[in-house]
Amino acid sequence: MTHRTLQLTFAIVLFGSAAGFTQDAELGKRLTERWCADCHAGSGHSAKARQVIPFEAIAAKPGVNAELIANFLMLPHSAMPNLPIRRSEAEDIAAFIMQMKK
Ligand code: HEC
Repeated sequence: MTHRTLQLTFAIVLFGSAAGFTQDAELGKRLTERWCADCHAGSGHSAKARQVIPFEAIAAKPGVNAELIANFLMLPHSAMPNLPIRRSEAEDIAAFIMQMKK
C-alpha cells in the first residue's frame, strides 16, 4: 500500500466514524456482556444481576436515542461505575441497546 493510499484510507475511516456510519451493534452486544450484564441483565438472567433498570427498559424510555446513551456512557455518573470505554465502543453499545426498542 502506498503512502497516499494509506492516507486516503485513514481519511475514510475518520469520516465514517464522524458521520456515525460505523456503529456495530453486534460488537456492542459483546461489550455489554462483558461490562454491563452483571447489573443490567434484566429479569432473572444472572444471579449476580442487581435490581438495575434493564437495557430493554432504557431503550423503551420516551425520548431516548443512541446519542443520549453514548453520551451518558462517556460522562461521569455516580450511581453506576465509570467504565473505561472509548467513544466508538459507547456508540456500538448504544446501537445495541436501541435495537431492543420494540
Ligand atoms: C455495577 C453495576 C453497573 C454496571 C456494571 C453498569 N451499570 Fe449502568 N447503571 C447502573 C446503575 C445503578 C444505574 C442508575 C440507576 C438505574 O437507572 O437503575 C445505571 C444507569 C444506566 C443508564 C441510564 C439509565 C437511565 O435511566 O436512563 C444506562 C444507559 C446504563 N446504565 C448503561 C450501562 C452500560 C451500557 C453498561 C456497560 C458498559 C453499564 N450500564 C454498566 C449500574 C451499572
